[in-house]
Amino acid sequence: MKRRIFSGIQPSDVIHIGNYIGAVKRWVASQEDPERDNIFCVVDLHALTVKQEPEELRRHILELFALFLAVGLDPNKSTLFVQSHVTTHAEGGWLLNCITPLGWLNKMTQFKDKSQKQETILTGLLDYPVLMAADILFYDTHEVPVGEDQKQHVELARNIAERFNFHYGETFIIPEPVIPQIGARIMALDDPQIKMSKSMAANKGHAIRVLDEPKEIERTILRAKTDSGSDIRFSKDPLKAGVNNLLTIYQTLTGKSADAVEADFADARGYGDLKKRVAEVVIAATDPVRKQHHQFIKDRGELERLMKMGAEKARTISEPRLQDVKQKMGLVL
Ligand code: AMP
Ligand code: TRP
Repeated sequence: MKRRIFSGIQPSDVIHIGNYIGAVKRWVASQEDPERDNIFCVVDLHALTVKQEPEELRRHILELFALFLAVGLDPNKSTLFVQSHVTTHAEGGWLLNCITPLGWLNKMTQFKDKSQKQETILTGLLDYPVLMAADILFYDTHEVPVGEDQKQHVELARNIAERFNFHYGETFIIPEPVIPQIGARIMALDDPQIKMSKSMAANKGHAIRVLDEPKEIERTILRAKTDSGSDIRFSKDPLKAGVNNLLTIYQTLTGKSADAVEADFADARGYGDLKKRVAEVVIAATDPVRKQHHQFIKDRGELERLMKMGAEKARTISEPRLQDVKQKMGLVL
């Protein structure tokens, strides 16, 4: 049997190079593996856990779906869909809520971080990991490729699955988080001590957005924070975090070994050279995506057709498991 892969990304803002390296780029590679059955989702219900401007959210959902296509995800090879188009998620999330102890949610570090930034903390924000567990579990998922920050949420999904199986009999597959060895945590360019994040991507200099123009990308990288030295090597030294981050971006986008990357920079004259070459590699990776995106986003009819096709495929996969769970929990079908 093929291994089922499920992952999702929020349409909360423009996608940055950390999302691309830590998530989307790896999905494209996964799609080409004949042993895998891949499902990738625009998790719009997750985006609603913080305040959204309705028209802006709608635009972001369409843009993200178009970005899936632009990076090379193929609706005929993978299942690509929008979470709210398939009712299993909201419905299954509720069912899982009713077996998830509140104490488990209070421990989530992302909730603690995010709730500190909100004036009003919405119930959905606390409940977010249960909805994510529903995304994963109702698709009989084996592997969940995500960045480091989502590991705790996948572990919660495992705990929920185990608890359900214990109370109602073997039902859910216990999913594995799959975290990349390199690039699981791309750091901010203006502050390499913190993770590059969507919520700060609007700040100048913080992130490279996948759809940025080449000039903008170059400007952002040339301004990236480094140290006062000149040594171009991978390092765990916090002082060298800026250079390490630039090398990591370069490495993941070129697919080279760490040694080969360092050898590439043996003749570089200082960080200026490093930044210029990193910018070239980032532009080479993102420019075709930006151009493709421009084409896909223009054809709303085609986007809607593909969204519908993906949702139908997703429904076929998750609906039987939903019925099974309802039956086991004592509902009348
Ligand atoms: P988010 O931006 O939180 O919606 O995350 C979408 C996906 O990108 C998830 O799989 C994250 O783990 C991954 N991700 C987010 N930020 C980074 C980052 N700075 N470096 C690597 N992966 C990231
Ligand atoms: N919570 C994830 C994030 O912010 C997105 C997500 C929602 C997800 N459902 C998922 C990731 C299911 C993997 C599997 O990045």
